[in-house]
Amino acid sequence: MTLKIFIKKMKKRTSSLSLLRVQRREVTRIALFFCFGLGAMSNSQGQMELAKAKYCMSCHAVDKKIVGPSFLDVAIKYQKDPLAKDRLAQKIIKGGSGVWGAIPMPANPQVSPEESQALAAWILQLKAL
Ligand code: HEC
Repeated sequence: MTLKIFIKKMKKRTSSLSLLRVQRREVTRIALFFCFGLGAMSNSQGQMELAKAKYCMSCHAVDKKIVGPSFLDVAIKYQKDPLAKDRLAQKIIKGGSGVWGAIPMPANPQVSPEESQALAAWILQLKAL
């Protein structure tokens, strides 16, 4: 084997190797993306289930007003308010009135402080698609 052919062969091999590496990186990226996406989705699905289980969805919907404001409207209203999460978490448990109209939200003692934080965080991260 002459040196020339040897070099040619090596070049070919390394280039196909680096191609493989790129492909592998792509596959990893796609797999990661998929996992995160799925994780985020199942998580928000979980919080929706929590909201249903705690009767929030009898007065609220994500995208339209029922008795209370839509959760999307809530998310938009407090978009730039860093203290909103704690305040809403408290209000979810204690109830309150005067922000969205004349109808008050009754207290929700069936919600624990941790659940209330999770619900407030879920509501605040909602975005219109
Ligand atoms: C009986 C009906 C009813 C139920 C059940 C209910 N809400 Fe409400 N909710 C309301 C009303 C009415 C308002 C508007 C209150 C106001 O204007 O201050 C409201 C307001 C809110 C707000 C916005 C508060 C603000 O100050 O901007 C959030 C967040 C919220 N509800 C979350 C929840 C969650 C989470 C649950 C379930 C644990 C729940 N609500 C259950 C009627 C209800």
